[in-house]
Amino acid sequence: MQPDDPAAFVRANTLVSAPPLVPEIRLHLASEVVPLWQATEQELAESGLPPPFWAFAWAGGQALARYLLDNPEVARGKRVLDFAAGSGLQGIAAAKAGAARVEAAEIDDFAIAAIGLNAALNGVAVAAVQRDLIGAANPGWDLVLAGDVCYERPLAARIAAWLTDLAAGSSEVLLGDPGRSYLPKTGLERVTAYSVKTTRELEDTDVRHAVVWRVAGPLSDPR
Ligand SMILES: C[S@@+](CC[C@H](N)C(=O)[O-])C[C@H]1O[C@@H](n2cnc3c(N)ncnc32)[C@H](O)[C@@H]1O
Repeated sequence: MQPDDPAAFVRANTLVSAPPLVPEIRLHLASEVVPLWQATEQELAESGLPPPFWAFAWAGGQALARYLLDNPEVARGKRVLDFAAGSGLQGIAAAKAGAARVEAAEIDDFAIAAIGLNAALNGVAVAAVQRDLIGAANPGWDLVLAGDVCYERPLAARIAAWLTDLAAGSSEVLLGDPGRSYLPKTGLERVTAYSVKTTRELEDTDVRHAVVWRVAGPLSDPR
C-alpha cells in the first residue's frame, strides 16, 4: 500500500537532530526504533516490513559524510550519486561540499520524502530518485557514494558487479562501512576511518569503527 502523505508521516514521527559524527547536518531522525517501525506498519497496513532505515544516520553513512565535509575537494564540482541514500545524509554532505549536482536514490517512499525534507532543512538541493538503479549505466556520475549497504547478502551481492563497473569507468566509488558481514573482501582500498557513536537499539555496541573505502578493483562476491 502507498502511504497517503509520506512527508507528513516523516514530520510527525521524527525529531530534528544531528548525527553525532556530523553535527553540521540536521536530519529528521527517529528517537526510538520500535514505535516508528510499528507506526510504519500501521500507516501502510502491512506487517513484516523492513525497519525504517531512513530514520537513522547509519555509521557507514556518517563516516562518508564526515569524510566529504572534511575533504570537500572530493565532491566539489562533481555530479554525485548517493546510492541507497536513506536519510540523504551523504548526498547532503556532498552538496554542502560544493557538488555541482546530487542525486539520491532510494526504493522506500518514506526515504524519498525524508531526503526532500532533510535537503530543505540544510538549504541544499538534492534530487531524490525513486528507482532501483543497480545495474544502470552511468549517466555521468563522477562520484558514487554507498553508505552502509553491506548489511544483507542479497543487496551486497547485487551491488558488487555494478559498483565494480562504475569504478572501472569514469566514477570514483566510495563505500562507508562499519564492518558489516557482507562487505566484499577484495577490491577495496582504505581511505580513512572514524569512531562513530551508535545506539544499542540498532547496533551491538556503543561505538563502531567505520571505514571509508574506495573501490579500486573488482569487488568479490560477498559470502
Ligand atoms: C542501512 S540503510 C543506509 C542508509 C544511508 N546510506 C546511511 O548510511 O545512513 C540502507 C538503505 O538502502 C536502501 N536500499 C536497499 N536496496 C536499495 C536499492 N536497490 N536501491 C536504492 N536503495 C536501496 C534501503 O531502503 C535503506 O534505506
